Amino acid sequence: MKDKINIAVLVSGGGTNLQALIDAVGSVITSGVIKLVVSNNRSAYALKRAEDAGIKSVCITKADFGGAAGMEAELVRVLEAEKIDLIVLAGFMSILSADFTQRFEKRIINIHPSLIPSFCGEGYYGLRVHEAALKKGVKVTGATVHFVNEIPDGGEIIMQKAVRVLDGDTPESLQKRVMRLAEWKILPKAVEKVSAELLKKEQQA
Ligand code: GAR
Repeated sequence: MKDKINIAVLVSGGGTNLQALIDAVGSVITSGVIKLVVSNNRSAYALKRAEDAGIKSVCITKADFGGAAGMEAELVRVLEAEKIDLIVLAGFMSILSADFTQRFEKRIINIHPSLIPSFCGEGYYGLRVHEAALKKGVKVTGATVHFVNEIPDGGEIIMQKAVRVLDGDTPESLQKRVMRLAEWKILPKAVEKVSAELLKKEQQA
């Protein structure tokens, strides 16, 4: 009987959330194993983190596969070949099509650096989210882990954590605090929650 969920982590950049997941396997994450890391950016430092952890990685770019549709087709092929059960978007800066999100319904989760429904949706990613939060003058922000559906940042919320905005914050200082106090904590917890649920379903089937 299967005892671990096969996880793929999709990345585009530095990969600090990937690192939090790698570090949590065996402690916070007991129901899943990271089988694969996929980057859509050849120079992502996240690829080095995967290599250091001995995790298989592949780079699938729009340029190499003739655009978004070609990239997704290759992504599906690789995910199916590796028998991936759960896809984690950890700083993956490309919007997936409705075809893709429906194929993996309730099997894709994303970390977003704000308290959804604030500062989310198309155009809100990375530092831009924190710039918008500071511009609005909110005193509390945070991070959200949610299921991914066809609406950008619109799927069911799994976990959230609030973080205080401090006087004098810059987008960079706020981003760092949100990562340290919220993202790196709730992403592993949410991955374990969803993995445990998926495992239970598979064992009952
Ligand atoms: C993280 O803050 C993540 O929440 C954000 O990009 C950063 C990636 O950092 N994701 C989004 O904005 C998605 N809309 P990382 O590569 O160090 O994990």
